[in-house]
Amino acid sequence: MVSRVTTVAFHGIEAVPVDVQVQIGPGTVVFNIVGLADKAVAESRERVRAALVASGLSLPARRITVNLAPADLPKEGSHYDLPIALAVMAAMGAVPAAELAEWVVVGELGLDGTIAPVAGALPAAIGAGALGRGLICPAANGPEAAWAGRDLPVIAPVSLIGLVNHFRGTQVLSRPEPRVRAAEGRLPDLGDVRGQESAKRALEIAAAGGHHLLFVGPPGSGKSMLASRLPSLLPPLEPQALLEVSMIHSIAGALADGRLSDRRPFRAPHHSASMAALIGGGLRARPGEVSLAHQGVLFLDELPEFHPQALDALRQPLESGEAVIARANHRVAYPARFQLVAAMNPCRCGMAGEPGHSCRRGPRCAADYQARVSGPMFDRIDLRVEVPAVPASDLALPPPAEGSSAVAARVAEARRRQAERFAALGAPGLLNAACGPRMVEEMAMPDAAGRALLSDAAAAMRLSARGYHRVLKVARTIADLDGSERIARGHLAEALAFRASAPSLAAAA
Ligand SMILES: Nc1ncnc2c1ncn2[C@@H]1O[C@H](COP(=O)(O)OP(=O)(O)OP(=O)(O)O)[C@@H](O)[C@H]1O
Ligand SMILES: [Mg+2]
Repeated sequence: MVSRVTTVAFHGIEAVPVDVQVQIGPGTVVFNIVGLADKAVAESRERVRAALVASGLSLPARRITVNLAPADLPKEGSHYDLPIALAVMAAMGAVPAAELAEWVVVGELGLDGTIAPVAGALPAAIGAGALGRGLICPAANGPEAAWAGRDLPVIAPVSLIGLVNHFRGTQVLSRPEPRVRAAEGRLPDLGDVRGQESAKRALEIAAAGGHHLLFVGPPGSGKSMLASRLPSLLPPLEPQALLEVSMIHSIAGALADGRLSDRRPFRAPHHSASMAALIGGGLRARPGEVSLAHQGVLFLDELPEFHPQALDALRQPLESGEAVIARANHRVAYPARFQLVAAMNPCRCGMAGEPGHSCRRGPRCAADYQARVSGPMFDRIDLRVEVPAVPASDLALPPPAEGSSAVAARVAEARRRQAERFAALGAPGLLNAACGPRMVEEMAMPDAAGRALLSDAAAAMRLSARGYHRVLKVARTIADLDGSERIARGHLAEALAFRASAPSLAAAA
């Protein structure tokens, strides 16, 4: 007889059903796993054997064959232990096989029969719901799985024995409660930054429309400080986006305690990050920083110090909102709609363009340093802002009256206007920065004076077609902040000023 238990394989953030089939039959005493399993799955054999022994069950001295179907779908990870153990137990008659048909099972086993947490419990729970079943998952993943739906049955046992007792009815496990991560501490506030009015304005525009932003300036002028204030201007995640973001973090095993948070992600990978760490992939298919920053901010500090190949690999997700990873035998895509914020010094010594400073290597210093970032990469950045050194006299001034909460209120209002407009255009949830070229022309056509300014500037600045559309999108956001339906010449002029490369970037533009 063949016993069956359903589990899942992850394809992107989607959970694909996998059938674990176990047959115990006559023949040589072996325990085999077949069905395109990777090393972690093949090793599951030893953990299952030990966990069963620890739970007071020994494997029969017969031929045990485990098949993971469909056989052509690659299986990665350690969450196959528990479904395999349950299917073996069902084949031995230790748990009722009919009852297992109601569930999807994920979990890793310890040698002592405890059930260890796994990555991807949330998408597995959503997948189980789509199949009309409940989810059996490790205790530590219970709160996260419970988010998949109020009506979805979830059992989150601590150990294999606990689960067997639940099925026997001797110790019934209650459904875990969904937990929310308490907002940890206060976010850094914009009110801490003295001066830098144009950089603050750019931050506000970027937050309102989701535009990519670059700060250029000498060391210690406050670039990293400004960028880390962006999260305090962004609105919290809406329920649908919250679930999507949490699914990606769940697959990456990055949900602390299985708690979800409605704060937008802010990811700041170090510049030594590899391409796999940024884009995703590597030994096991897992989301990279671009996907972990989905619906939030990816902050690349010291932009030219990143590996040039890693930076160029960012171009595709920046354009499509998706990170595609090619594997040996399949292709995985993770959502990656993030807002890029980058900071850099204008040259290696950091002071090019500062009054009274001349680089030791002359203009080559700035040119060589900036050439590490490709032109197409700069072309994707809508707002380029010069952040000059703050004079000591400004630092001694009292703090600015306006803090993050006042700016965040204006950002929320501009986002509300966008939400209304995009809902009317049949594309709810979009931000100005992410809309397509056809839609831009529909919703961001300036008045006659604006059009004249735009065509003159496009010729003088040699704007690319992408640059042209991006200027229109920024102008749309500026008008939204202004509460204006119409894009006036002034809105466009401000957008163009942010597009015109910062003077110290001239060599690279
Ligand atoms: N505008 C400012 N207002 C108040 N403090 C500032 C300002 N600019 C810089 N500082 C102070 O200087 C410190 C360093 O700033 P920050 O790290 O943001 O500089 P940076 O521009 O990122 O420099 P680098 O190019 O070396 O990375 C801040 O932690 C803060 O104490
Ligand atoms: Mg810095």
